[in-house]
Amino acid sequence: MSAKNASSLKSVDELTLPEARAEHETLGREIAEHDRRYYEEDAPTVSDAEYDALRKRYEALEGLFPELKTSESLTQKVGARASEKFAKIRHRVPMLSLANGFADEEVEEFVERIRRFLQWKADAPLVFTAEPKIDGLSLSIRYEKGRLVTAATRGDGAEGEDVTNNARTVGDIPHVLEGSNIPDVFEVRGEVYLSHKDFAAINERQEAAGKPLFANPRNAAAGSLRQLDPKITASRPLCFFAYAWGEVSAMPADTQYGMMEVLRSFGFKVNPLTRRCSSVAEMLEHYHAIETDRANLGYDIDGVVYKVDDLSLQQRLGFVSRSPRWALAHKFPAQKAVTVLEDIEINVGRTGSLNPIARLRPVTVGGVVVSNATLHNEDYIKGIGGNGEKIRGGVDIRIGDTVIINRAGDVIPKVLDVVLEKRPADAKPYEFPTHCPACGSHAVREVNPRTGKEDAVRRCTGGLICPAQARERLKHFVSRNAFDIEGMGEQRIDEFYEEGLVQRPQDIFTLAERNARSLKRLENREGWGETSVRNLFAAIEARRSVSLNRFTFALGIPHVGETSARLLARHFGTFEALREAAKAAADPESEAHAELTAIGGIGPVVAEAIVEFFKEEHNEEMLDALLAQVNVEPMEAPATVYSPVAGKTVVFTGSLEQMTREEAKAMAERLGAKVAGSVSKKTDIVVAGPGAGSKLAKAAELGVQVMDEDGWFALVGRG
Ligand code: IVH
Repeated sequence: MSAKNASSLKSVDELTLPEARAEHETLGREIAEHDRRYYEEDAPTVSDAEYDALRKRYEALEGLFPELKTSESLTQKVGARASEKFAKIRHRVPMLSLANGFADEEVEEFVERIRRFLQWKADAPLVFTAEPKIDGLSLSIRYEKGRLVTAATRGDGAEGEDVTNNARTVGDIPHVLEGSNIPDVFEVRGEVYLSHKDFAAINERQEAAGKPLFANPRNAAAGSLRQLDPKITASRPLCFFAYAWGEVSAMPADTQYGMMEVLRSFGFKVNPLTRRCSSVAEMLEHYHAIETDRANLGYDIDGVVYKVDDLSLQQRLGFVSRSPRWALAHKFPAQKAVTVLEDIEINVGRTGSLNPIARLRPVTVGGVVVSNATLHNEDYIKGIGGNGEKIRGGVDIRIGDTVIINRAGDVIPKVLDVVLEKRPADAKPYEFPTHCPACGSHAVREVNPRTGKEDAVRRCTGGLICPAQARERLKHFVSRNAFDIEGMGEQRIDEFYEEGLVQRPQDIFTLAERNARSLKRLENREGWGETSVRNLFAAIEARRSVSLNRFTFALGIPHVGETSARLLARHFGTFEALREAAKAAADPESEAHAELTAIGGIGPVVAEAIVEFFKEEHNEEMLDALLAQVNVEPMEAPATVYSPVAGKTVVFTGSLEQMTREEAKAMAERLGAKVAGSVSKKTDIVVAGPGAGSKLAKAAELGVQVMDEDGWFALVGRG
């Protein structure tokens, strides 16, 4: 949503009353929606500065046109949002997320995957812990010499907000650890949550004070912990369950279950429903028992978490992407609701995809008000699945239909089904647009040359001329896991784009300079002030130096998400190296192409997208202009303990006997090495098992160091 009528660009005193009235109304709706996202979903989509600017404009309108100040006005309601700012804390050990599963079979697959990775037989004993997945927000609390020193929210996993003073007000969080053998450094991780009873009491108080209600206990807990005034946090009875740890100077136990007992002995609450299970059957039994008891627990949970009990196995299993291979969140089934599909809108994505969005009559699902849901793509609306098969028995989805939607935890709500009996007589099949709603270019479904099948996604062919794509690319560029420019939210981008102030990424970094020379300076405009402009420019300046992985991700290369960006950054070390390799890889026969596709985790589709991106002349120009403005920090070798193979390129070949290929690769990468699939001049070490063939010969020819598995373990140890 945005107040993009023409009047919002004028200063308030240039408006006529009807213009002011129209803008006041749009703005009021917009602010109310932001309040809802903030209070009910704890998921604001604009920065505090942007929100404040909207409010300021809203108040300015009422200042000049007092007739707008009715009892309905937002200024007459209590509960303006505070602009809160917390200092940041970097997590010394990243706070990761968990892989999810819904079906019982996924638990079986999870356990099988672990056995395969470890090369264990199906009957070798393997123990897991199983405990409820608490629906709150995670917190990392650092103790030094047994005393609480800092507490930080998860944030983006690498950096969270410093909520130390607030955490100290939580009864379940000890200020000083109890017991003996307390490690010098001990970071405890767990979940802050609110009981159903306390949640109800908080909402009663909110209502009595005329303040907005929280939609569910999780949002209320988040809203309570993220208060600038710890007195407010103290007045909300937050609880805490400990279930994990971050940096620890000396591990006091060698199993997950043992650690939970230690945490309890240190004075933490650990969930009483934590069990040890030695088979999938036991895990599922505990899951279903918890599911049955769910309503009686007195607090919200959204599934069960299984973790490999033996910590040395956890260490061996390591991580895939951002989640541990040794854990699984087995979520409870999604909650459903019935509502009416009022409209279908098309959003144009960063890569030109035409994404259909269902506008729904608002409905509460699992405590959250849902008014939008995804409709996936054109075929999905028609009742056709990914392989051309019928879904919903081939029933299509029409505007006006009564639909069943679901929502599972943090997943985007989906339209699942149609209640056909309630279909209005005049409902017509939905005609998916064949032109981009933003730029009018043709929108096509490409045919995959390999499979000969039509892509499910219809894409705008406008490329660089399509304003929607350009805006989405900019939004991606400044987003939290990319350049993370505070004060440059979606709304600001829309505004800057429309005015022609920022249309390409490089424009962001020349904005301050152009503004200084401009006749229409930002600080003199409605909705802005000296401070907000200064803050914005400071936020931009702070990002003139950016890490290679963020930079690579920010470019918005199709299929290159955060994980691929990180892999590329780690492999190439500098942007120059990545760019050069990507250009050279345009020749599919080149060594550069072989190198790119041999990077673990970079498949052929991703490699192709990278090559295409760097081939494009406009992208080259954009990169040159951007690199003249920003410094891309080279990726340092991963911060592992000293490793004799850090920075080296290793090739594993032949059959390995003491570890699986996957495990070998994960181990080498953990130690800071790059793993390649073929031997070249760049290879440092070849680890060869029995049956190694041409790669061994190539290594000999190039004079590369060759060792067997024992040699490898002698070099790197067994850790
Ligand atoms: S273990 C390395 N255990 O779920 C992973 N997480 O989806 C450490 N959560 O961010 C997390 N209950 O906020 C773990 N018993 C539990 C949990 C739990 C809730 C949350 C946590 C985490 C998220 C991951």
